[in-house]
Amino acid sequence: MVSASTQSAAGRWTPLDRRGRPLGVLRLSLTARCNLACPYCLPDGVEPPGLLTLPQRLRVIEAAVALGARNLRLTGGEPLLHGGLEELIAAVQPLRATRPDGPGLREIALTSNGVLLSAERARALRSAGLDRITLSLDGTTAASVARMAGVGNGAVVLTKVLAAIEHARNAGFDPAQGALKLNAVIQRDVNDDQLLSLAALARERGLELRLIEFMDVGNSNGWQPEAVLSAAAMVERIGARWPLEPQGRAAHGTASRWRYRDRDPASGGAHLSVVASVSSPFCGDCNRLRVTADGIAYTCLFAAPGSGLDLRPWLQPDSAAAGLSEALTGLWNRRADRWSEERQEAWSTADPTPRHAEMAYLGG
Ligand code: GTP
Ligand code: 5AD
Ligand code: SF4
Repeated sequence: MVSASTQSAAGRWTPLDRRGRPLGVLRLSLTARCNLACPYCLPDGVEPPGLLTLPQRLRVIEAAVALGARNLRLTGGEPLLHGGLEELIAAVQPLRATRPDGPGLREIALTSNGVLLSAERARALRSAGLDRITLSLDGTTAASVARMAGVGNGAVVLTKVLAAIEHARNAGFDPAQGALKLNAVIQRDVNDDQLLSLAALARERGLELRLIEFMDVGNSNGWQPEAVLSAAAMVERIGARWPLEPQGRAAHGTASRWRYRDRDPASGGAHLSVVASVSSPFCGDCNRLRVTADGIAYTCLFAAPGSGLDLRPWLQPDSAAAGLSEALTGLWNRRADRWSEERQEAWSTADPTPRHAEMAYLGG
């Protein structure tokens, strides 16, 4: 039997779920829209009605932080489509921890496809107080980028993302400090021929590349187990070219890290990571709460559509803060989801077409 909350070193009570997992990360989606059409995610481009306002978002963040969230990750859709992004980042600065072991936010991060990251925007994000950016690039040729991003002209996207990497670096997001990383979703027989060139590109630019197994999120990406290239296979292929040493997965993290043996570990580009959600699920210590752009809270990336908790009744001008806190605590205490582990356990018997909320809506 697991108690419903635990006391952190800072003396704050953090809710525990039914599997004893504490709340630690808030993934807040700012928009369900995206400027790309990656078939593995397939946003429908439609913004849900009733988007949260900035004050409502601040109340959600404040409540999650008071309940133990240490990390705020801003997502979408594509979060750079949200004009109020910088304002939001600036507004949450007072929630930062003032002592290393004290309560409050330790980190504010952004997951973006990078296409809209101009030099000016990168500087604005940095000065607003963003700590880390993860950009996405699924290939190094115009043809593979076009296919993975669902666009006609892959060269334009490729050029923009490569420029975005430099804009972020120049704005002060230092890859050697983990403040700039590159995500790549890999699908077998679609873009797995890009593995070595992606790794080379990341090594040349001093970036950590994070190779992500193709996941069965949403309902429209045509996922089949055969389309997954396992993280182990990816590591084997890259390790055959540049020998790798395992570093493990950080507590509550998504990615397992490897170190290139030929690189100084303190330098940028010395590491490769894999997110093995399909072949090696990490539900056991999942600490992520998700809130959509329209204020629906979900605990699992693979939750059924419509199963989230609408927070808006507690976000009205006259709502007391305690109501929202109780609602989030109750949601977290009831949480027992471990979808990726269950998928693995019931691989042969699982319903091949379970319904999940869409990735672009949930924010990854
Ligand atoms: P870091 O804090 O830099 O490690 O970022 P992150 O990996 O938590 O976030 P990011 O947005 O870069 O996500 C990387 C991949 O992990 C994406 O494909 C996400 O959809 C996936 N991911 C993030 N959280 C979860 C999760 O709780 N479960 C599963 N199965 N996948 C997740
Ligand atoms: N499988 C794995 N990763 C995915 N992403 C989007 N859809 C999928 C999927 N089906 C990734 C994006 C981005 C992050 C938020 O999630 O490429 O890096
Ligand atoms: Fe967390 Fe659900 Fe992902 Fe498992 S599948 S790690 S429980 S979000």
